[in-house]
Amino acid sequence: MQLTKESVLSLEEAALEKAKGDSWRLRFHLMPISGWLNDPNGLSEVEGTNHIFFQYTPQDTKSTTTNCWGHYTTKDFINYIYFLPSLYPDTIYEVNGVYSGSAINTSSGIRAYYTGNVKCEGDYDYINRGREQNTLLADSYNEKTGEFESKTLLMKNEDYPKDMSLHVRDPKVIKKDDKFYMLLGARTKSGIGSLIIYESEDGINWKEKDIIYGNPILGYMWECPDGITINEKDFLIFSPQGIEAEGDRFQNTFQSGYLRITNDHGEISCKEFLELDHGFDFYAPQTYTDEDGRVILIAWMGLSKADYDYPTTKNQWIHALTIPRELSEHEGKLIQTPIKELEKLRVSYETLELDGSNTIIQTPEIYEIVLKDPSTFGKMIINNSCILSWNSDTFTLSFESENKAIKKAGAGRTHRKTRISKIQDLRIFVDTSSIEIFINNGEEVFTTRYFPEDIKQLECIDFIGNLTIFNLRSFNYERPDGTVLFDF
Ligand code: FRU
Repeated sequence: MQLTKESVLSLEEAALEKAKGDSWRLRFHLMPISGWLNDPNGLSEVEGTNHIFFQYTPQDTKSTTTNCWGHYTTKDFINYIYFLPSLYPDTIYEVNGVYSGSAINTSSGIRAYYTGNVKCEGDYDYINRGREQNTLLADSYNEKTGEFESKTLLMKNEDYPKDMSLHVRDPKVIKKDDKFYMLLGARTKSGIGSLIIYESEDGINWKEKDIIYGNPILGYMWECPDGITINEKDFLIFSPQGIEAEGDRFQNTFQSGYLRITNDHGEISCKEFLELDHGFDFYAPQTYTDEDGRVILIAWMGLSKADYDYPTTKNQWIHALTIPRELSEHEGKLIQTPIKELEKLRVSYETLELDGSNTIIQTPEIYEIVLKDPSTFGKMIINNSCILSWNSDTFTLSFESENKAIKKAGAGRTHRKTRISKIQDLRIFVDTSSIEIFINNGEEVFTTRYFPEDIKQLECIDFIGNLTIFNLRSFNYERPDGTVLFDF
């Protein structure tokens, strides 16, 4: 199906009522009105406006090959403008999808770099034969429509290093000291996840600078690479495919995490690869540096080929983006803190002093739980649907229970764990069908979707300490002409 502005508008108008009637429709997360969403793309801030592009397929809740880039803008992370797509697969270089990429702000305006995907018809392996992954530049951004009006082909598969398979994608462009650098995720012909680094004087003509090869333990393909420097330490964030599960680590089908890079050609090992999130629904994170110098990360709150369900597909939508998280660094580890603007969502609060006896607290529709230095953290059950527990050295998020409501809410999700020796601080964001848990000031994070029955309560078992529950308000979602999309 060839997508156009008109066809997307009519698809979305038709889907809007279903989306509005869905009690699992998220209230403070970004998602398109209808269809399949995956990666955040083109994150950037230009003169106070934050651009959050995302990949989606408006007409289908399954991943298809007609992705386009949807688009939200916001000045304050509370009020959002939802545009029609900014990029459609409308040239021969991207017939099967506008794939992931990034954006930068230049003197001639915002520019997007992305992968154009082409899948040839025939009997191919689609790894070494039968596909194209083109690197494209989109510019002439029109502020009124939110569309990029011109596209240029920059590189094709034959321009990439000779030992690469046809999987080379997801350009992340970074401007540093008047030079441009492009990171491309890749799979070698022998099945090793790798990173190709290009450099450019003008952001248009690119020259190969370096290749970082992974090793078999680090997977066969590295998607969505991103490079950041915090406290003069360099990190490579990426989403490798093909890492084997190891104890409680790497439990999802695909991973997202980072390596500290100390030497361009240094030996890197799987031990050094740290996951950014231990939950079920987190993939393809992307960062950008905003105009205040903060490094902000947003990820896809979802995963491809996951072996659990998303029951909102009956209302023609699936997936969302995570809340934005500011990144900092502590002893070589990346720390995630929900951006401070989200505190403006708090409308009222209640503080409770719990003494270890089992307590059930009635909660608002959407809320944030804050705990500071509890003397004991036993177990918490959120909305009779999701169990969080801690026992001396391990924190667990679980949907495994005799209680049918809990099992059902997990929609196939089981449990995820990570080692934590002490719980000092906890912030939990509970939306209608998502939970994001920030432990010890964001040192460890768990993100999950869940699909609760209509029970608004928090059960605390063996918990001693003070707990505050903030009642949150929803984001405002509007069209560019001011039409309110969701009036929660
Ligand atoms: C990551 C990813 C990217 C690709 C896009 C395709 O989720 O697979 O590598 O560009 O999604 O939809």
